[in-house]
Amino acid sequence: MDIISRINRMKEISKEARGKGKKIGFVPTMGFLHEGHLSLFRRARELSDITIASIFVNPAQFGPAEDFDKYPRDLARDVDLTVAEGVDYLFTPAVEEVYPEGYFTYVEVKRLSDTMCGRSRPGHFRGVTTIVLKLFNIVLPSFAILGQKDAQQAIIIKKMVKDLNMNVEIVVAPTVRHEDGLAMSSRNYYLSMEERKAATILYRSLIEAQRLINDGEKDAEAIEIGMRKLIEDEPLARIDYISITDTAQLEHLSKISGEVLIALAVFIGNTRLIDNIIVNA
Ligand code: PAF
Repeated sequence: MDIISRINRMKEISKEARGKGKKIGFVPTMGFLHEGHLSLFRRARELSDITIASIFVNPAQFGPAEDFDKYPRDLARDVDLTVAEGVDYLFTPAVEEVYPEGYFTYVEVKRLSDTMCGRSRPGHFRGVTTIVLKLFNIVLPSFAILGQKDAQQAIIIKKMVKDLNMNVEIVVAPTVRHEDGLAMSSRNYYLSMEERKAATILYRSLIEAQRLINDGEKDAEAIEIGMRKLIEDEPLARIDYISITDTAQLEHLSKISGEVLIALAVFIGNTRLIDNIIVNA
């Protein structure tokens, strides 16, 4: 595997590969890799001739009071994991090259970026879409593989790709979970042992929602109340939001029908975790 840190070099490699008719599968990440990321690398390998992963902790998607500085980083370990997964190139650009002085251009998917996580993290998705667009322009992927755990992010990126007529197919891969149901996330690293136990409340509340729907509940508010009750019983948990929407426009639903996205963000101590399921009602 080659590690590429300069933008021009990455562009040369991807341009040459695409020129030879090769399909590039791309997995953008912020590093501190876990099994969830590795499953995305495997999917990229299945779909493409060349697999490129990026590691870039993107300052543009962190708010001023958020965890950019303390976001966990371990490049040496990440390199070992990407090599073991058969990734061909690891792209690790420097912040100064991605956002040099005088950098002024941002891309934003309106409306979809303002709800759910976007409401609690103003500017977050503008940072995500900007970096993802830049990375796509550099890496020239045929496929980009994203995780279902970040459901809103995947929906927003798909919308950007459609609205801007971009030539990349977005593939969303299932959430990978620990045995007790907690979705894998680099931020789980922040949790104390006690918090780690409490964090299972996110998935447990989603299972409760699924159970209510299976039992015939159609009223979204009743489902939200059921989830809320369960989470509020967990002393270390504080709900940021629970949302029940369709899976394309993220429109709030009052009656459950068709494909429904049930998503939530919960603070466990100081750590904000997200999770979701899609239910076919
Ligand atoms: O999901 C992530 O890790 C990030 O938001 C992404 C897509 C790599 C953009 O920085």
